[in-house]
Amino acid sequence: MKLRDKVAIITGAGRNIGEETARLFSAEGAKVAVADFDEGRGKAVAGAISQGGGEAVFVQVDVADEDSVKAMVAATVSAFGRIDVLVNNVAISDNKDIREITLAEWNRTIAVTLTSQFLCSKYVAEQMIEQGDGGAIVNIGSTSGFQGRSRAVAYAAAKGGVANLMRALAVQLAPYRIRVNSVVPNKIGSPVGREEFDPSRPVPNLIGRAGLPQELARAVLFMASDDSSFIAGENLVVDGGLMAMMTGGS
Ligand SMILES: NC(=O)c1ccc[n+]([C@@H]2O[C@H](COP(=O)([O-])OP(=O)(O)OC[C@H]3O[C@@H](n4cnc5c(N)ncnc54)[C@H](O)[C@@H]3O)[C@@H](O)[C@H]2O)c1
Repeated sequence: MKLRDKVAIITGAGRNIGEETARLFSAEGAKVAVADFDEGRGKAVAGAISQGGGEAVFVQVDVADEDSVKAMVAATVSAFGRIDVLVNNVAISDNKDIREITLAEWNRTIAVTLTSQFLCSKYVAEQMIEQGDGGAIVNIGSTSGFQGRSRAVAYAAAKGGVANLMRALAVQLAPYRIRVNSVVPNKIGSPVGREEFDPSRPVPNLIGRAGLPQELARAVLFMASDDSSFIAGENLVVDGGLMAMMTGGS
């Protein structure tokens, strides 16, 4: 087991990538805080893990709210005594272009997608530093953070921020043996903010299909566990080869 007796917080664990990461971490021996805004989804995931013999608690959180994030950290420590791994997984997408988006929509997307990773990392790192024996933080990015898109202007900006926030955190937390890395998905399960998977959605990558949430979860496990013990400040792209392709040319 790669995470035996480790304590992990996974934000946005009520669905899709976060849910499968929580399930995989539990199968690998971790005690899991299923942190989500949505009580129904979060309780269902934590309950399923517990029923299957794992250890999980649901923690309700708005990752864009500082007091709520502090309460999430306190609830996890109260349940399991410590924190070893944080997966910053929550994001929302505006799905708008620059002409359509309002300032309020821009601010909310940046808050939930980027500021959330700052807040959760800040208060979890504080706890890890107090514990004194290191830890791992995995920030979920997006290929949208590396290339321009015709839509999702705020999401793309936020994910660009996620990539360099991750590097800054990796540098600043290295003295405390906290490794910080990112996993960078494209087209995994259902689209961000949606429940349903559309099999007819075009998937122009080298594998020729959408990724499964489990395939992304395995990359998160790699970055969270000692399998990646010599990797820090890195982006692991899990996109079926999309970013390797030249578009518009051969
Ligand atoms: N699905 C994809 O194809 C894809 C592609 C690229 C990047 N990503 C990234 O992967 C991560 C997960 O994506 P997903 O598709 O699984 O997301 P999702 O929308 O399916 O699930 C997100 C979860 O976060 C929760 N949530 C939303 N706002 C919250 C808040 N303020 N506080 C707490 N919880 C909140 C929701 O209730 C939901 O359970 C995101 O960072 C996303 O940007 C996903």
